[in-house]
Amino acid sequence: MYIIGGTASKSVAKGMSKNLDAPLARIILKRFPDNELYVCISDDVSGENVIIVQTTYPDPNIVELFLLQDAAREAGAKKITTVIPYFGYGRQDKKFEDGEPISAKTIAKLISVNADEVITVDPHKKHILDFFSIPAFSCSAVPELAKYLKKKNIDLVLAPDKGALDRAKQASALIGCDFDYMEKTRIDGTTIEIKPKNLNAQNKNVAIIDDIISTGGTMAKSINELKKHGANKIFVACTHGLFAGDAIKKLSSAGCDEIISTDTIKSEFSKVKIAPSLSQLMTSKQVSI
Ligand code: R5P
Repeated sequence: MYIIGGTASKSVAKGMSKNLDAPLARIILKRFPDNELYVCISDDVSGENVIIVQTTYPDPNIVELFLLQDAAREAGAKKITTVIPYFGYGRQDKKFEDGEPISAKTIAKLISVNADEVITVDPHKKHILDFFSIPAFSCSAVPELAKYLKKKNIDLVLAPDKGALDRAKQASALIGCDFDYMEKTRIDGTTIEIKPKNLNAQNKNVAIIDDIISTGGTMAKSINELKKHGANKIFVACTHGLFAGDAIKKLSSAGCDEIISTDTIKSEFSKVKIAPSLSQLMTSKQVSI
């Protein structure tokens, strides 16, 4: 078995290689003069199970994944497992307006062309897995996030909307504290409304947990509400830290005490590693290797 780490997910691939005791395949990545990508798998993966690890964000990493998958197929790999730490385009999981694509479905279909199975971490919605035409599995980052948060004396885990409630519930059970949720209405891509709620956050250390932090708007508004309700320390934790535009500034100005994310998208806030959870899933009975 070989592990192939794409540009976006080198450290996750390295971690999986260590955990699964499987070598990292040597790959060559170059740009042609016109900037098109060239890839080559230098090791002989013919007849081998190959795990390709690549986050599909930003866009150039999607093309790189397609080429790596095709190279593995062309080289005669026995089985190709594609591990997508962060599945980009997951939020366009349906047509919100006439004339729109279902972007998540299109990307999933294309990834399925040269893979035998797929694993992705905390997909934005569960039904995204059904867009793949091959077996697709979801890996949860919550246990590792909860392990990190447990050291922070958290009294309350908060979901910024009802959609994130299951995640908050699961994290609170692992930490051993209470959970609650906010009521969020999305107006557009950058505007949301968080309705005040009768939260019991007075003097409490609160962790707000979500799948994605993009503009930071959702978290910043939740922090504002928590402050109004007298919260003590406020931690924001997510699986996928996109931190678009001035997200970090927004979170700091709102009064956030710590920003925590996994390394599905590498940043200075990637304090939680996802490789252990992915490796555990790979060795479980659910996914055959
Ligand atoms: C939305 O349903 C997601 O779970 C996140 O709450 C959202 O993507 C966060 O976006 P932003 O940071 O831009 O508010």
